[in-house]
Amino acid sequence: MRLDKYLCDTLGLSRSEVKKIVSKGRVTVNNAITKSPDTKVNEETDEVTFDGKAVLYERFVYYMLNKPAGLVCANKDPRDPVVMDLFRDEPGKGLSCVGRLDKDTTGLLFVTNDGDLVHSLTSPGRHVFKDYLVTVAHPLSEGDIKALTEGVDIGDDKPTLPAKVKVMDDDHIVLSISEGRFHQVKRMLIAVNNEVLALKRLSLGSVVLDESLKPGEFRRLTAEELTELKSY
Ligand code: URA
Repeated sequence: MRLDKYLCDTLGLSRSEVKKIVSKGRVTVNNAITKSPDTKVNEETDEVTFDGKAVLYERFVYYMLNKPAGLVCANKDPRDPVVMDLFRDEPGKGLSCVGRLDKDTTGLLFVTNDGDLVHSLTSPGRHVFKDYLVTVAHPLSEGDIKALTEGVDIGDDKPTLPAKVKVMDDDHIVLSISEGRFHQVKRMLIAVNNEVLALKRLSLGSVVLDESLKPGEFRRLTAEELTELKSY
């Protein structure tokens, strides 16, 4: 790989910015200053530094975000602010959200540039349970809980797959679903004559939202969390 690409990817700089820092002699490859941005580097074995600090190449980056309300899961939107605005200064080109949460939904969202992971976690055949804390308009009856648990007709070809319902109090349930249909939770509650007043994703499989993250904050996934996600 060319040195300028290596530095663009890792430092999040533009090609012209990289050209400047390289021509000023601020970059070394294997302990030797190089002033040519087209120097070939092996990202696995070569040691690159910028201003004396090691610059490690990571092909893929993985983040856990506590999504705030009001942001759309997209790279750009003509009307609304987007999740990717939060990541503008982060390394890792080509980041995208793993699946979609609605604009008003909060909580656990993964962001990565690993297209294979995005694909495997969002493909329709993948049935990983996701837990949502749902603020409901009315308390659920035993019949509602039974219907949600067994599967409800939300207007698609097939009813929803069996879900799990945990009643927290009159206003809150935790609904666990293993599919990711469009507005699924909201449509499931409508199917039992209820309404979602607020929705927060708590977990995906065994990976749980880090509650120390305030809405809008994110952190890198731990090695364990990543291994978990890759196993689904
Ligand atoms: N179900 C919904 O209705 N909305 C979401 O954002 C996620 C699941």
